[in-house]
Amino acid sequence: MCGIVGYVGSRSVSEFLLEGLHRLEYRGYDSAGIAVISDGEISVRKKAGRVMELARLVEEQPLFGNIGIGHTRWATHGETTDANSHPHLGGNGEVVIVHNGVIENHDSLRNQLIALGYVFHSQTDTEVAAHLMAHHLSEQLKLNSDEPCVDTCLRAVNLTLDRLKGTYGICVMFRDCPDTIIAARSGSPLVIGVGKNEYFLASDSSPLIGCTQDVVYLADNEVVVLNATGMKIAHRTTGRVQPSIQTLDQVSADIDLGNYPHYMLKEIFEQPTSVENAMRGRLDEGEATAVIGGLNLTAQQLRTFDRVVLTACGTSWHAGLVGEYLLEEFARLPTEVEYASELRYRNPPISDRTLVFSITQSGETADTLAAMRECQRKGHPTLSICNVVGSTIAREADGGIYLHAGPEIGVASTKAFTSQVTVLSLLALYLGRMRHLSYPAGKRIIKQLREMPEKIEEALKCHERVQEISEKYAHFNNFLYLGRLYNFPVALEGALKLKEISYIHAEGYPAAEMKHGPIALVDEQTPSVFIVPKGGIQPKVISNMEEVKARRGPVIALACEGDKEVERIADDVIIVPDVEEYLQPLVCAIPLQLLSYHIALLRGCNVDRPRNLAKSVTVE
Ligand code: M6R
Repeated sequence: MCGIVGYVGSRSVSEFLLEGLHRLEYRGYDSAGIAVISDGEISVRKKAGRVMELARLVEEQPLFGNIGIGHTRWATHGETTDANSHPHLGGNGEVVIVHNGVIENHDSLRNQLIALGYVFHSQTDTEVAAHLMAHHLSEQLKLNSDEPCVDTCLRAVNLTLDRLKGTYGICVMFRDCPDTIIAARSGSPLVIGVGKNEYFLASDSSPLIGCTQDVVYLADNEVVVLNATGMKIAHRTTGRVQPSIQTLDQVSADIDLGNYPHYMLKEIFEQPTSVENAMRGRLDEGEATAVIGGLNLTAQQLRTFDRVVLTACGTSWHAGLVGEYLLEEFARLPTEVEYASELRYRNPPISDRTLVFSITQSGETADTLAAMRECQRKGHPTLSICNVVGSTIAREADGGIYLHAGPEIGVASTKAFTSQVTVLSLLALYLGRMRHLSYPAGKRIIKQLREMPEKIEEALKCHERVQEISEKYAHFNNFLYLGRLYNFPVALEGALKLKEISYIHAEGYPAAEMKHGPIALVDEQTPSVFIVPKGGIQPKVISNMEEVKARRGPVIALACEGDKEVERIADDVIIVPDVEEYLQPLVCAIPLQLLSYHIALLRGCNVDRPRNLAKSVTVE
């Protein structure tokens, strides 16, 4: 949550900061701001609202300079006002900071600072850190007036960080050290872009694309001092760190909208390719299995596990539910799917023979990271299924599988879901084939997986039909999403998509479970979306549809072509390709993503930036 950018070099800094914030806006869009040092003065422009509004302000009141920091906010402490926007000045304007994270002991620190005479202009926890920084700076200046200013500033930063409880990715500039940015992280990500006589800072690599390919990921408890001629990274307790420079392989086309009006639509239509990329080089026809490097466990070790725990949040958790069914069906491995936010504080019995996977698009979700660390603390190897290369979870996991879906920018997760399901299918095949899944069964699964990009392409043909249906249903305020077996998680995912971008109340349920309570919601004003493609228990789901119709509930059905029975009962049918049951989530998710997209548009909602949400949830 919240996006941070910084720059020091010879470029015009405002342009980089504004473009960077624009690219990070998915992390939070309650307000935005930048600070620039020029002629020995710190100047700040900040505004509640979108980065676009900040850009307008900067156009009216330009900021010139070659060093600066910026922030796009997802509010935690204090409303979305100009005053609560970052950057925050400390003391009498000698320090300026931007911060991502939560300072848990802000209240007691604030009281101590007020007693020392500091005046607060906002309700944020960040301003506490800014004043504390100014306080330690003034103390250190009294004690060490002869040393280089940068050393004093660094000491002030470290003394401040020592007193903060909580999480932070923080960037600081000092009026009297006008060529330097100091940044540090503990729990909130920061990546440094290394240029020629210039350095960039950001919460993730997207602002760096097109500027530099060389990056260093700051680790927890590291602090970096940047100026145009160099960077020094130190671990706050163990000392100097030799930075490991990595190469970014993203290209700017990946983050351009192209001809699409929204990232969400672009990402929905990217799914034939993203699913193909998730499988690329990972199918071994000869052995009828998947090839999964990166787990850092030998086949022999993998065979010793007798249970799997998948942990995740939101959409990734839904993908995990599909994974549970796949792992149990292909590999006969008992699997549990845990909300990471629960797992982190529970004390479930995880034995040495339990394999734990964290599933995450961003690799930065605070709860998922904390659950992973908790498992690692207890000595369990924890692997990740992650999209963002170099993200904290990907780096800290003991091994893992990348999705290779490319950047997902729309806040509503779409292509990450189908890539996660694809990777989980590969994993189930791999673990299954080293247990008792037969060669012919492995061959059949591979054949079907190979067909999936084409099948998803076919599923996308429903676009116009979904658009029509959306017009008919956009005014309803309650929806039920119902499916069984592999399509139960799809129902949950469909409901989540509708809720998060169109603010319509929606519930996902196993179709048969409906009669144990939710059926009481059914009336003419509550449409039910049934996911009812061909399969073993389709007749049972059809009976559930009848039950809804008998109570005058409107029914939208996702079904295979020519399914007369479904056509007879449903008010509206959306055609999905006929695929094996265990791969149905890959095609059935598509119309549901499109349905929520079009309903949200018709209701005038901002599909890429839904209210109250942020793309990666880096706070608890
Ligand atoms: O980056 P992650 O996969 O860890 O994110 C988990 C959830 O925050 C995320 O899936 C969220 O539910 C999406 N907005 C859903 O569209």
